[in-house]
Amino acid sequence: MSKNVVCETKLPDRNPDIRGKVRDIYDLGDKLLLVATDRISAFDWVNPVGIPEKGRILTQISLFWFEQMADLCDNHLISADIADFPPEFQAQADMFAGRSMLVHKCDMLPVEFVVRGYLAGSGLKEYKADGTVCGIRLPEGLVEASKLEEPIYTPATKATDGHDLNISPEEAGEIIGAELNQLAADTSIAIYKRGREIAGERGIILCDTKFEFGMLDGRLTLADEILTPDSSRFWPADQYEPGRAQPSYDKQFVRDYLESVNWDKDSPPPPLPDDVVMKTRDKYMDAYRQLTGKEEL
Ligand SMILES: Nc1ncnc2c1ncn2[C@@H]1O[C@H](COP(=O)(O)OP(=O)(O)O)[C@@H](O)[C@H]1O
Ligand SMILES: [Mg+2]
Repeated sequence: MSKNVVCETKLPDRNPDIRGKVRDIYDLGDKLLLVATDRISAFDWVNPVGIPEKGRILTQISLFWFEQMADLCDNHLISADIADFPPEFQAQADMFAGRSMLVHKCDMLPVEFVVRGYLAGSGLKEYKADGTVCGIRLPEGLVEASKLEEPIYTPATKATDGHDLNISPEEAGEIIGAELNQLAADTSIAIYKRGREIAGERGIILCDTKFEFGMLDGRLTLADEILTPDSSRFWPADQYEPGRAQPSYDKQFVRDYLESVNWDKDSPPPPLPDDVVMKTRDKYMDAYRQLTGKEEL
């Protein structure tokens, strides 16, 4: 497969209906084509330089996990085979193959279903301040990156400024209904646990992760991407050491570089140099190989 970088996709007569930070989305009526580009974001800013094959790698990781979790929950996937896409996408296989998923359009639930098995990020911040995470009281004496006895469901919503806002499980129940919230929480924890076990056997710690669910024909349906480095914190197990920040599996070189150049994080970021791009690409590929056991995309 060619190693071209695809930062933006388009059809001859059509742009994507939505450009997220990382994905281009084409609205096909009752279906969507979700295209993972090679864009990379760090500190909430998309870098002007892409990471070759990142989009393909993330899509293939999601596909691997959808298969692993198929018995736990319905999911939105119809096909990732370009032969099943509308002809105008097939005509641009270089752009779309391997990085795109044809999915059922779901009525998305306005909650981010976060599961945490270790203490990090906003969970760590809240724990240090209050001894809780999303209002859930945790034992005393935990440190950064401590493993939690039992994984916890720590939902979030999108605040008006686009940032995530942690809420309690009860508040999530008020937003989407207690029964549905319980089902989604139980499903999220079951998927996280299986994911953690599989990743753990392969030398990767799955710290925490975010799922998105929607409704399809009245059924709870797992949507978006799952258990990718973009929706989860992955830590290399051989470097795990509670009490300090863990190296991020994929974006560490990017973050280190951006910290080293004293960028203010308040204006467009400086382009990543080639060596950072290539090392980052290798990390994504390592994650893919380690998780799926496959050598090539
Ligand atoms: N099956 C689906 N039906 C409807 N919307 C979906 C589905 N799967 C994912 N989405 C939405 O598509 C978008 C994915 O684009 P992304 O680039 O990840 O955006 P963001 O920058 O908001 O994370 C998200 O808003 C997600 O909720
Ligand atoms: Mg997203």
